[in-house]
Amino acid sequence: MSSSELDVVEFLLTTHLYNNDRDRDPDDLPPAYRRALWDGGGIERPLTANETNAREATGVGDPWGAVSGLMFTDHDDFAGSITLTEHEMATEWFADRADADRLLANPTLAAAVDVDGVDYETAREANRPMHADRVWIDSLLEEYFDDEEDEEMLDLVEIRAPEEVEMTLDDLVLTADQKNEIQKIMKAIEHRDYLAQIGLREIGKLLYVGPPGTGKTTTSRALAHELDLPFVEVKLSMVTSQYLGETAKNVEKTFEVAKRLSPCILFIDEFDFVAKTRNSDEHVALKRAVNTLLKSIDEISLINDEVLLIGATNHPDQLDAAAWRRFDEIVNFPKPDSLMRSDILRIITQEMEIEDFDPDALADDTEGLTGSDLRLVLREAVLDALTEERTALTQADLEAAVQDFEERDSLKDLDMIEGDHDALVAGGDISADGGGHDDHDHSHHDHDH
Ligand SMILES: Nc1ncnc2c1ncn2[C@@H]1O[C@H](COP(=O)(O)OP(=O)(O)OP(=O)(O)O)[C@@H](O)[C@H]1O
Ligand SMILES: [Mg+2]
Repeated sequence: MSSSELDVVEFLLTTHLYNNDRDRDPDDLPPAYRRALWDGGGIERPLTANETNAREATGVGDPWGAVSGLMFTDHDDFAGSITLTEHEMATEWFADRADADRLLANPTLAAAVDVDGVDYETAREANRPMHADRVWIDSLLEEYFDDEEDEEMLDLVEIRAPEEVEMTLDDLVLTADQKNEIQKIMKAIEHRDYLAQIGLREIGKLLYVGPPGTGKTTTSRALAHELDLPFVEVKLSMVTSQYLGETAKNVEKTFEVAKRLSPCILFIDEFDFVAKTRNSDEHVALKRAVNTLLKSIDEISLINDEVLLIGATNHPDQLDAAAWRRFDEIVNFPKPDSLMRSDILRIITQEMEIEDFDPDALADDTEGLTGSDLRLVLREAVLDALTEERTALTQADLEAAVQDFEERDSLKDLDMIEGDHDALVAGGDISADGGGHDDHDHSHHDHDH
């Protein structure tokens, strides 16, 4: 028996059971099935299996071919539809061959087929809900953003389905405090009915504070992945600078998008932009926009609207009390300490082969570097090695890349007009302290950048 045979029977059986049990809703279908069975605005009964959707749902190239040998299947050449002729026989055949894992990944089947160790609740719990599917998000957006002006607005927000998030919480090195806050918010979401019941509504607005490259954006996205929530990301500077005058309206629309897509995470980046506009004598329109923003934050709620709000800023010192007090938790994203740096190095090199790898020693050498900096260092080391046709790295490659990074980093602080002219001439030493560490041979870099 091939597994494609079982895959296709599972699909046929699922559509049949779904049609016949009104208690089942789209969240009881595996995500791949929903994508294949999606029809315009949703998933409508009766579901009909055909060659095309069966192929898409199961990945089996010739679905009818895979099941044509079974006694309980039939095929309509003209419509391309595939049907089960004997449902009971099909169910028995399937139950004999399917293991618990297969059933646990399909709540519709778990509810109908008896296999040891499988119950519907567990399967349902583990299944990704429909509101996290790309097809669902797209259909909502299409419905909501129907005219051209609205489409322009969509350029300002970036919307990700949880399945599209690349880095997960496992890929991140977090402080104890960060882990604790994430844990708390996950519990709050899980028990939000209880929180509503006891009247605890002031929850679910987080402000991430820390220097660039410390993982604020990545952690927020990873949270979306972990919680199976769509991720709506907006940069305040974008919303405000591009559409002066339209700005207040755009802010309102951003929150409207989040409410439409709820449950979801709304991530507002560059939050300090609020402060800049409030303190200056800028355009009245900007001030109005900021007030709209603060008001929108007040009005949105995790408990009532199922929107988790996360703001992020590099400049907490620029936020005034009015902005601060709207967040119920402030999460600090400091630059990583030595232990964290060595953990980050271990994680980002997981898939690589490195001779004499000593992350602790590198961590000691990279004081002040962020997770993002360490990634850049690694990238340079990899690319440098590739220019020598090597894919295996050594500890020395990484040390050289760290050295390089620090020299380049010091370029940021150079005054290009009046500063140290020596450093601006090819062959000159660009290190901030004027040289003195020549134990590495840098001469081959001079023409590279
Ligand atoms: N603590 C960490 N653990 C693992 N990787 C990290 C960590 N911090 C940062 N990184 C890496 O650095 C990259 C950049 O991080 P991210 O964009 O999340 O930073 P940020 O705090 O949002 O920066 P900015 O303030 O500039 O927006 C990420 O791709 C991530 O891989
Ligand atoms: Mg960021």
